[in-house]
Amino acid sequence: MKICMVASEAIPFCKVGGLADVVYSLSRKLAVNKKNVSIVLPYYKGTENVCDSPMKKEGSYSLTMAWRKLDFDVYSLIYRDIKYYFIRNDFYFLRDNPYGYNDDQERFAFFQNALLKFFDEKGLFFDIIHLHDWQAGMVPIIYREFYKKEKKNPKFIFTIHNAAFLGLVDRKDLYDYFNISEYFFDNGETRIYDKVSYFKTAITLADKVTTVSPNFAREMLSDDTSAIAHILRNRGNDFSGILNGIDTKEWNPSNDPFIYYNYTSENVMSQKQKNKVALCKEYGLDPNLPLFGLVSRLTTQKGVNLIMESLETLIKNKVNVVILGSGEEQIETQVKYFAEKYKDNVKALITYNNELSHKIIASSDFFLMPSKFEPCGITQMLSQRYGTLPLARSTGGLKDTIISYNGVNEKEANGILFDSFDPNSFLLASLLALNLYEKRRKFSRIVHNAMALNNSWTKSYQDYYSLYLELTK
Ligand code: ADP
Ligand code: GLC
Repeated sequence: MKICMVASEAIPFCKVGGLADVVYSLSRKLAVNKKNVSIVLPYYKGTENVCDSPMKKEGSYSLTMAWRKLDFDVYSLIYRDIKYYFIRNDFYFLRDNPYGYNDDQERFAFFQNALLKFFDEKGLFFDIIHLHDWQAGMVPIIYREFYKKEKKNPKFIFTIHNAAFLGLVDRKDLYDYFNISEYFFDNGETRIYDKVSYFKTAITLADKVTTVSPNFAREMLSDDTSAIAHILRNRGNDFSGILNGIDTKEWNPSNDPFIYYNYTSENVMSQKQKNKVALCKEYGLDPNLPLFGLVSRLTTQKGVNLIMESLETLIKNKVNVVILGSGEEQIETQVKYFAEKYKDNVKALITYNNELSHKIIASSDFFLMPSKFEPCGITQMLSQRYGTLPLARSTGGLKDTIISYNGVNEKEANGILFDSFDPNSFLLASLLALNLYEKRRKFSRIVHNAMALNNSWTKSYQDYYSLYLELTK
């Protein structure tokens, strides 16, 4: 069986959030199990400098998108037994960031047209084409309209990582970007409200649709405010939730090269404290106070405003907060403002930095994740592995991965959850966390529960592979 992932991000070449972790980790797990797996990505700025594997030019190609004639090259390399293909067109992708431009829809239209053109000209066949998020959502319809064979065709799986981005364009863009007739707007296949949606098209046309946790799948199906719920319900058993795993090799406190002191569950209570002391020293914070950490994209999804609105009370209750993140300008500004205002207790690092993310996750006592919505979430599982208790909202995958402490259940709890998306609920949960922090025996028990969890990719890999088998049998 030949499997190909199509995505806009994958470690080690491009990462903005958890999408990159998942596309790589699932592929790596497939490769370790001797499956033939490829990933197709855009060739972003600096792609050639990421790893030492020799890069090969596959060829030069061209395509048309309505009036545009577009040339592109395809490169490939093998990284840790995964074959990566890169679609290169410098006008669209040689930019400072992977997204955030007003022609993003056109850029990813090109990407999808180009990869299918390349497969066709090169005679490459994949049994499974696994598409991730809206940037890959039009692949099934382009394939059906232009490349469908009489006998052997790939099966398509579409995985929803973020349902907030629908990849919307105007009706006329069906032709303008994809050379596809507007008939497929009128018949409803690509249409949501009065727009064409790459996301909706994939949900309608992929052979299977998944999202990244069972609870988020249920939430999507029952959200009557969203037109997507109805479309997903129509897919019946072809839609399911498969929980993400984490990369337990890169994220292992016993040999993590980025953290100050390595530790296991046997010496976590003493060694973790040493990590905290080292981090606090670096940022001028009092190491005797409990430390709340946050590593996140700074977007409205992540609920950072709940933390900001609670900061003053938190600080009165003697807490330090370290924030690492970047994203929406307005949220960055808000975080910088509060960090300046409460500089004795708050440190904000407005950047993306993998090494620092390891240090903060290892050094904090609690990891904040007050998300408005969270399809799965990776960082709460990373935190648990490091004995750092997630303090999170009970939504999406956070609910599937955290058993909340309720004052008496220290035998099974491995974090703290709160329900409503408001600062008071977050604050109450924070006060419960501080109370727990003082009860050292209970606290230690829950830290050990968290570290004992197994969130590796093994189970998730089996679930995805079963889907692949079901589709190809
Ligand atoms: P999302 O995909 O919604 O951003 P996840 O929790 O699934 O949320 O994944 C986020 C991933 O991105 C994690 O691997 C996390 O460590 C990483 N990450 C997010 N922000 C930063 C940052 N500023 N620096 C380093 N890593 C970050
Ligand atoms: C998205 C979601 C996040 C999920 C990640 C990987 O970015 O916001 O919850 O963990 O994708 O699937």
